[in-house]
Amino acid sequence: MTIGVVGAGQLGRMLALAGYPLGLDFLFLDRSADVPAAALAPLLVGEFTDRALLRRLARRCEVLSFDWENISVPTLRAATRGLRTRISPPLRALATGQDRLAEKRLFERLRIPTTRYAAVASRAALERACERIGLPGVLKTRRLGYDGKGQAVIRKRADIDAAWEALGGAPLLYEEFVDFELEVSALGVRARDGSEAQYPLTRNWHAGGILRLSVAPWKSAALSAQARSHLRAVLRDFRYVGTLAIEFFVRDGRLIANELAPRVHNSGHWTIEGAVTSQFENHLRAIAGLPLGSTAPLGHAAMVNLIGRMPSAASVLSQPGVHLHDYGKQPRPGRKLGHCTLVAATAKERNQRARALLRHLALSLAGAP
Ligand SMILES: Nc1ncnc2c1ncn2[C@@H]1O[C@H](COP(=O)(O)OP(=O)(O)OP(=O)(O)O)[C@@H](O)[C@H]1O
Ligand SMILES: [Mg+2]
Repeated sequence: MTIGVVGAGQLGRMLALAGYPLGLDFLFLDRSADVPAAALAPLLVGEFTDRALLRRLARRCEVLSFDWENISVPTLRAATRGLRTRISPPLRALATGQDRLAEKRLFERLRIPTTRYAAVASRAALERACERIGLPGVLKTRRLGYDGKGQAVIRKRADIDAAWEALGGAPLLYEEFVDFELEVSALGVRARDGSEAQYPLTRNWHAGGILRLSVAPWKSAALSAQARSHLRAVLRDFRYVGTLAIEFFVRDGRLIANELAPRVHNSGHWTIEGAVTSQFENHLRAIAGLPLGSTAPLGHAAMVNLIGRMPSAASVLSQPGVHLHDYGKQPRPGRKLGHCTLVAATAKERNQRARALLRHLALSLAGAP
């Protein structure tokens, strides 16, 4: 069976790495030939808006999936009209994950607590939103944001000008700034037959809007129960097929949904070494119509992102028990180039070894375990 993947970044690359042992083949589509998945599978090069090219991709695979969620849904619909290719995850999930306003509305409809927000289409609407939601707040583009891009924090009224200057013009959303205690993400998978599996809760540390560190399982019975029920509600509502992640803030012991990702997620990379079945393999099992694998943890994992500058493989691997994933990308400030993971027998040992790894990589992270 051939899996077509729109987007050939590191997520696509890790999907292929997980899929070959299952006997799956891959065909990617991306804008450039110099992409992380290109070394692993054939690649069609062209624009994501190229309907003819998307159709060529769809014709050559049984299932079409994504490593990037910002593909035009109408174009994709038109490109696949009349073909028998399955699209997984479903397009409704893709459309929702592309638009912060649609995400908020979904969370509200499913009674999942989320940040207070207002849609902003003009400078006057931004003034009104700051008035109504209050300061500080975060102005975000509704679409195309990632790694904290397309966001501006508004702390005082005088910041409104600069925020509008930076982001005005695109449809926006203003939301309260959440003075969170911590951030966690819920990751789960749903199969075609409706069976589901959820990974244990992951705790995440961001800096400058980019994920730096994830540890799992994050043991909190109360938060885990909330996360399970929210994730289940979203998976069922979409009749979802594949892996999906929801990012949450935690304030006063309660989860507040930030955003969802209708795909494998950076905060789930620890599952490659840290769970019986990785998020990548489970995504493929789901979309290929295979039975899901166990999401049980194999210990206590920590995953550190390698951003902007790639340490040498020898340096990372000199750390006992550390696994390296190099995405083969050109270094650039703020760019995710790889990650490394360790799995320990206890949470205490994991935290100690994660601290040592961060020190070794000369990374300092406020509040790290
Ligand atoms: N309303 C908020 N209050 C406090 N912190 C926030 C808020 N929104 C975003 N942040 C911080 O910025 C990070 C990135 O924000 P968000 O997840 O909305 O952006 P993104 O660019 O879509 O990121 P991703 O790479 O996860 O797709 C959050 O994980 C959090 O640390
Ligand atoms: Mg995020």
